[in-house]
Amino acid sequence: MIFKNILVTGGAGFIGSHLVRLLVDKYPDTRIINLDKLTYAGNLANLRDIEDRANYHFVKADICDYEAMLKLLKDYEVDAIVHLAAESHVDRSIEEPFVFAQTNVMGTLSLLEAAKTVWQKEDNWQSKRFYQISTDEVYGSLQDNDSLFSEISKYEPHSPYSAAKASADHFVRAYHDTYALPILISNCSNNYGPYQFPEKLIPLFINNIRHKKSLPVYGKGENIRDWLHVEDHVRAIDLVLHKGIVGQSYNIGGFNEWKNIDLVKELINCTDRLLGREEGEDMDLITYVADRKGHDLRYAIDSTKISKELGWKPVYDFPSGLEQTVSWYLEHQDWLDNVTSGRYVEYYEKMYNNR
Ligand code: NAD
Ligand code: TYD
Repeated sequence: MIFKNILVTGGAGFIGSHLVRLLVDKYPDTRIINLDKLTYAGNLANLRDIEDRANYHFVKADICDYEAMLKLLKDYEVDAIVHLAAESHVDRSIEEPFVFAQTNVMGTLSLLEAAKTVWQKEDNWQSKRFYQISTDEVYGSLQDNDSLFSEISKYEPHSPYSAAKASADHFVRAYHDTYALPILISNCSNNYGPYQFPEKLIPLFINNIRHKKSLPVYGKGENIRDWLHVEDHVRAIDLVLHKGIVGQSYNIGGFNEWKNIDLVKELINCTDRLLGREEGEDMDLITYVADRKGHDLRYAIDSTKISKELGWKPVYDFPSGLEQTVSWYLEHQDWLDNVTSGRYVEYYEKMYNNR
């Protein structure tokens, strides 16, 4: 598949910015349109290195604004949508479920309806793609140590975040089954890497270790997550977009499970080493705190299908991926300070309002 105009929603966020960079670099003859509302999690500084490229365009908009989505799809003659825009943090979803339903469910529906309305009028509309980026959290929680989520696992979300993502995935599938909208879905495990908002475990803890602040481990730290480097995820997204079979979903994960407490110890050792401290000297920062409500015990992905059918496999091994990530955060304290102070929001609001 070759696309002329790819719309990436949520391109100023963590995964979206890595995807936009990959697409802008790899497809110089394709226009990459980054649509983002710039919530607290959206940060155009993540894309400073490519913002002047001829095939990159930024549009500030809200996916929930149906009229704006219609206009944008027409004006830019969009032939593929990679939909990442979402509220993404489980802890926030427990506090603010309405916001999650609004953005993740209603926003996805608004985009689906706009795509259907605009594309259906075109002769070649089966060559378009609506690609929903989803999470393994829609499958719920594994209670044993061996089983894995596959593409046919049942959806059993537990948190307001995963319930909203699951609902959005169901709408995407419904648009395929009802209106023949050419859709793709992928469900990925936990991502790590540069530019992740420091509310998520890995960047939050690296920053805290640096500043000798406590590390709040939920419950006993026995929950298990399957970690994948964000660059491996966006390489998979590129493959699914260009080679995936319409109507199918693909699981993406690195067969890389870690118990939270073991990961935290690994992070402390790595961060201490890179800061020139004695390895492990910050172990006493670990503080066990009250567990997250409804905390899923274990996520683990079987990514055999995407490997066999599309030839994807992760490039990063975990120790080198983690070391690269810790180094990046330690070298980008200014980025961390900006996103935690909110200063970048004011800066870019001004810049775009003045254009
Ligand atoms: P993120 O929170 O870093 O970024 C989300 C982006 O969406 C931000 O730039 C934000 O400004 C934008 N956004 C939010 N609401 C919007 C709206 N109404 N209109 C337009 N833009 C809006 O999230 P992320 O971690 O990069 O996740 C991106 C996607 O990937 C999400 O859909 C998430 O569910 C999915 N996902 C994430 C992970 C992970 O580990 N982070 C794993 C699997 C799937
Ligand atoms: P997180 O990065 O929020 O991702 P998700 O909830 O989507 O898996 O959390 C990863 C794991 O780390 C999860 O089991 C919750 C746990 N956690 C803590 O123990 N302490 C923290 O401060 C955070 C943010 C997460």
